[in-house]
Amino acid sequence: MRQAPVIRFDDVTKTYMRGQHPAVENLDIEFSRGEFVFLVGASGSGKSTLMRMVLKEVAPTRGTVYVAGKDLSRLPSWKVPSLRRDIGMVFQDFRLLPSKTAYQNIEFALAVIGTPRKVVRRLVPEMLEMVGLEDKGKRLPHELSGGEQQRVAIARAYVNRPSILLADEPTGNLDPSTASGILDLLTEINERGTTVVMATHDRNAVDRMQRRVVEMVGGQVVRDEEGGSYETPAPVSVISGNLPDDSAHREEHPLDDESLVADWDGAPEQEPSEAEPALAAARHDAEPGSGVPVRDILEEDLIDEREAQRVRDEDPFAEDDEEELR
Ligand SMILES: Nc1ncnc2c1ncn2[C@@H]1O[C@H](COP(=O)(O)OP(=O)(O)OP(=O)(O)O)[C@@H](O)[C@H]1O
Ligand SMILES: [Mg+2]
Repeated sequence: MRQAPVIRFDDVTKTYMRGQHPAVENLDIEFSRGEFVFLVGASGSGKSTLMRMVLKEVAPTRGTVYVAGKDLSRLPSWKVPSLRRDIGMVFQDFRLLPSKTAYQNIEFALAVIGTPRKVVRRLVPEMLEMVGLEDKGKRLPHELSGGEQQRVAIARAYVNRPSILLADEPTGNLDPSTASGILDLLTEINERGTTVVMATHDRNAVDRMQRRVVEMVGGQVVRDEEGGSYETPAPVSVISGNLPDDSAHREEHPLDDESLVADWDGAPEQEPSEAEPALAAARHDAEPGSGVPVRDILEEDLIDEREAQRVRDEDPFAEDDEEELR
């Protein structure tokens, strides 16, 4: 039995530019707490747009997006960092801070929310161990393999124990066996209670996992199937039955590589720096009216900020009392 929806789209349409075909159209869908959902569909079908609406990076043109029961259009901007703190995000191109080590990349996610140093010292090694990189904490991203970088990115996205993890083609740049390891990691995170929504073109991942599959075509959901596979099973002819496993995928996406989608794929409407969400989080944590210029807050200051609030183990929306939303 499905639990209460943690994400709900109520008749949502997103049109980026007037006159353009909507990126997402009349979307009515719910994701329950604890689910593992695959979003599949050809390039441009609206998967990333759906995810960016959950993060409130993109606002719907029509309709309402609810996260943890809250209407995001009514979430004041100063609450957005708190929303994003409770949603981990993993991208195809990892997006690690290039001049920081694996350890520091994970630490940064904790530092910007003012986690006490003692807690940071416990959590970062714990996360490195969880992703199997306990001996590589001192490496810079360019000294790690793609699969290892993605593990660091997952550790960073999960270290705050978010209730939702959005993964946008997290295995897109990885070889099949490395991809399978990343999928195992996402499965483990899901088993620990986090709702995982993964956009993917990785048919092996989808077929192996047999989880809920939501397929999009031209911004609309055309299939929503529990225990589904990458494609709707079609009658297998003798010829297609002999095709190599991923041939249909290649035909469908003949030029499907990052160079073609890099123009905008996953990129926010206004290109923020990598540290921007983190800085936004810092802005939220700064004392209102303290006059502290948030952009001047140093990372070290944040780590040292012992008075800062502890990592919330519970639903961060718990603090969103009704009056605050008003
Ligand atoms: N910032 C933007 N401005 C204008 N149009 C956009 C923008 N982002 C996406 N689109 C358009 O919206 C549609 C859906 O794009 P989206 O990124 O959601 O697709 P996708 O399913 O994630 O594709 P892919 O598998 O290639 O990542 C596409 O037609 C795309 O051109
Ligand atoms: Mg995309």
